[in-house]
Amino acid sequence: MRRKRDIIIKGFSKLLKEDKLKLVAEYFENPGEVIELLKSFWHHDESQQKLFDEFSENTITNFIIPYGIAPNVIINGRNYLIPMVIEESSVVAAASAAAKFWSERGGFKSLVLSTKKVGQVHFNWAGPATLLFDLMPALDRMLREAAKPITANMEKRGGGILEIKLIDLTDKIENYYQLLVTFETKDSMGANFINSVLEEFGQTLKVFLSEQTQLSVAHRQCDIIMAILSNFTPECVVRTWVECPLSQLDNVDEKLSGDAFARKFETAVRIAEVDVYRAATHNKGIYNGIDSVAIATGNDFRAIEAAGHTYAARDGQYRSLSRVEIEGGMFRFILEVPLALGTVGGLTSLHPLAKQSLELLGNPTASELMMIASTMGLANNFSAVKSLTTKGIQAGHMKMHLFNILNHFKANESEKNAAVEHFKDQKVSFASVGQYIASLRK
Ligand code: MEV
Repeated sequence: MRRKRDIIIKGFSKLLKEDKLKLVAEYFENPGEVIELLKSFWHHDESQQKLFDEFSENTITNFIIPYGIAPNVIINGRNYLIPMVIEESSVVAAASAAAKFWSERGGFKSLVLSTKKVGQVHFNWAGPATLLFDLMPALDRMLREAAKPITANMEKRGGGILEIKLIDLTDKIENYYQLLVTFETKDSMGANFINSVLEEFGQTLKVFLSEQTQLSVAHRQCDIIMAILSNFTPECVVRTWVECPLSQLDNVDEKLSGDAFARKFETAVRIAEVDVYRAATHNKGIYNGIDSVAIATGNDFRAIEAAGHTYAARDGQYRSLSRVEIEGGMFRFILEVPLALGTVGGLTSLHPLAKQSLELLGNPTASELMMIASTMGLANNFSAVKSLTTKGIQAGHMKMHLFNILNHFKANESEKNAAVEHFKDQKVSFASVGQYIASLRK
C-alpha cells in the first residue's frame, strides 16, 4: 500500500538510515526496486559512505554528477588540467574548446584585485548617533580584544579582522545600526571564522554598552538583531582576461573577418550590459564554468553566485559581468567577478574528490583558485558568445546532448556508434534522433 502524502512524519531525523530509506520507498509503487536503486548509489566503502552521510542531515543515498576535465588551460603562463563537476552536457566541451583556442593566442591572464570579506552585526540602539560614534575607538579595542581567542590562529596565518565600522541606518529603519566588519581569511573561505567573530562582537557590544555609566540607563542597552557574514564580497575580486590582435580572429568564422567577428562579439556583450534578460543568461553561462570548479573543489557555489549576481547589479541595473575592449588593433575580453573561495577548511579536504581536485590543480592558494575558477567562467562565456554570434548555440549543444537523447531511447552501443557517425553532419534534435533509431530497429 502506497503511503499517503498528507500524513505528517514525526521524528524522521531520528530514524536509522535503513528505516528512513524504507519509509521514503513507501511513497512509490515499487518500494523494493526503489530501495535497490537508492542503495546502488551507496559507496562500496562503508567508511567513505559514513563520511558523506555526515556531511548533511537525513541522508539516504548519494546523487552522482559527472566529474570532467578541461585540459590545456593556460593561466598566467602555467598549464592546468581543470576539474569540473557539472551535469550539463556541453559545459566541459565548451570550456575545453575555449582553452584550446586561447592556448594558441597567449592563454588566459588573471589578477586578484583584492581579497577582503565582509560581515555585519545588525543592532538597534535608541540613543543619539553621535554618542555611539564617539564611543567607537574604545568599542573597537574591546571588540578586537574579546575576539582574540577566535582570531589568534587566523592572525598567525596572516589574516584576521581588518576594519570595524559603525554605520548609522536610522534613516532607513528606526534605531537601526550596524557594525560593518572586514576580514582577511587567507586560504579559507572563512564563513565559520567570520560568523564566530561576529557573534562574539554582538555579545561584547552588549557588555560594552552596559558598562558605559556616563550613558542614561536606557542607552546602556542595545538589541542585537543578528550577526552574520555577507555573501556580497565586492572587495574579494579577480580580473581575468584574454587578448589577441584582431588578425588572429580571422579564422573563427568562415563568413566573418577577424575584425567583423570581434565587433559582432562586442555587440553581443554590450547587449548583456544594457538588457537585463540577456544579462541573466550571459552571466549564467559564466557560472557554468565557475560553479563547476567550485563544486569540484568543495566550495560553496551558492555563496559565489549570490556575490556575483549582486556585483552584476551594483550600479542599480543587473549587467554582464564580462566586457569587451577593442583598441589599437587588439581584441580584449575581460571578466571581473567577486569570488570568495577557499582551499583549506570546509569540505575542501574532507570530500575525497575535492581534495583530489585541489591536488590536480597543484594545491593552489585561495587567490590562485580565484584565478582558475574565473578563467573557466570566462572560457565558458567566450565559447557561448562565440557560438551565439556565429553558428548558433544549438549545433554544438545538441551534438553534446546526443548521448542523452540516445540514452532516452535506450540505444545500445552499436546503435550509439552508428548515430554518432550519422549525426556528424546532420542536425541533432529529439525527433531526428528518434526517427533515426527507429529506422535502425526496423
Ligand atoms: C547555457 O547553459 C548557457 C548559455 O545560454 C550562455 C549564453 O547564452 O551566453 C549558452
